[in-house]
Amino acid sequence: MPLDPAMNTTELKPIQPVDLAAERAQLGPALEDAVLRVLRSGAYVLGPEVQAFETEFAAYQRTKHAVAVATGTDALLLGLRALGVQHGDEVITTPFTFFASAGSIAWMGAVPKFVDVDPETALMLEDQVASAIGPRTKAVMPVHLYGQLCDMNKLSALCKQRGLKLIEDSAQAHGAERDGYRSGEKGDCAAFSFYPTKNLGAAGEGGAVLSNDGEVACHVARLRDHGSVAKYHHGEIGTNSRLQGIQGAVLRVKLPHLERWNERRRQIAARYTAAFQSSDKVRPLTVLPGSKPCFHQYTARLVNGKPRDTVLAAMAAEKISVAVHYPKPVHLQEAARPWGVGPGDFPNAERLAQEVVCLPVHPFLSDADVDRVAEALLRHA
Ligand SMILES: Cc1ncc(COP(=O)(O)O)c(C=O)c1O
Repeated sequence: MPLDPAMNTTELKPIQPVDLAAERAQLGPALEDAVLRVLRSGAYVLGPEVQAFETEFAAYQRTKHAVAVATGTDALLLGLRALGVQHGDEVITTPFTFFASAGSIAWMGAVPKFVDVDPETALMLEDQVASAIGPRTKAVMPVHLYGQLCDMNKLSALCKQRGLKLIEDSAQAHGAERDGYRSGEKGDCAAFSFYPTKNLGAAGEGGAVLSNDGEVACHVARLRDHGSVAKYHHGEIGTNSRLQGIQGAVLRVKLPHLERWNERRRQIAARYTAAFQSSDKVRPLTVLPGSKPCFHQYTARLVNGKPRDTVLAAMAAEKISVAVHYPKPVHLQEAARPWGVGPGDFPNAERLAQEVVCLPVHPFLSDADVDRVAEALLRHA
């Protein structure tokens, strides 16, 4: 029911992008037991909980190997290194993503080479990847933005044909499927983040590299431990990026719930999409045929209506948090200047950055919450 504009909003329940308190309430004792188990065991770094989580998460993603690391960014860095990306190489990715995708390429001394995104899905325009390949191209990094998978069959065929490595940025894609495959199955490796707000989040930072290639997985495992081949014997330069035992234990408690949580996210997404069906101002991004996104974000474009900032302020006044992922594409960031990119280069990314809004889609929302968000957005757009 539409809100009376004169209504006292102090009565309204805040609707947030995530509800970690609800998650803790659901899992409470199991989470506390898991943390205590690690505290009592003293296995604070890696250890049996992390090892068990690696096995369980690899099985969930239908991938042979998982190597747990300290952050999603480290998963990208160590994945790139394990695939042989070096100083001076180029890696093709998109400019409409969290900065870490391109930033990790540059941190390796390589150069991100961008292809634009599809304005309907915000995913890499796979058909433009071939023409972006040059003599220095070493790898392609698709980003499964908002939890919808890129066309990995197409990208993996192209990479095989052109002798390139394929690393998936799967930081937002836990459990997402497309044409029956999951992230990690098709690429040479896939990098996941377990930042607390992710569909599968740790009680702190965390990440993992998944691969069907045992050599890649073993290489990442060495790199996360200073290139160690045996205690105090270092075969190459690596870093310290070992997942903490407590994070492994927490992730193990949450993993069995992920499928159900993702299903609830899909129900919420379908409810939003139905609500916006006849709107000419709120246009949800497209779910592709054969795609089963995990809806890390539910994203719509605001078109033909009021300025986005005005809409966001009106939603905030009704205690509804609406996020913008991401307000400035990577190629327009100050840090991107050395890559020779600038305004006008990737028009779809630039337009999406101005139009997108991400609505709360966490699995603890009720249908009434979802209806309240949708109704408010339609009223303010
Ligand atoms: C698309 C994408 N790539 C990489 C990362 C980096 O992950 P982390 O924050 O765990 O380092 C994130 C995290 O938000 C992300 O959304």
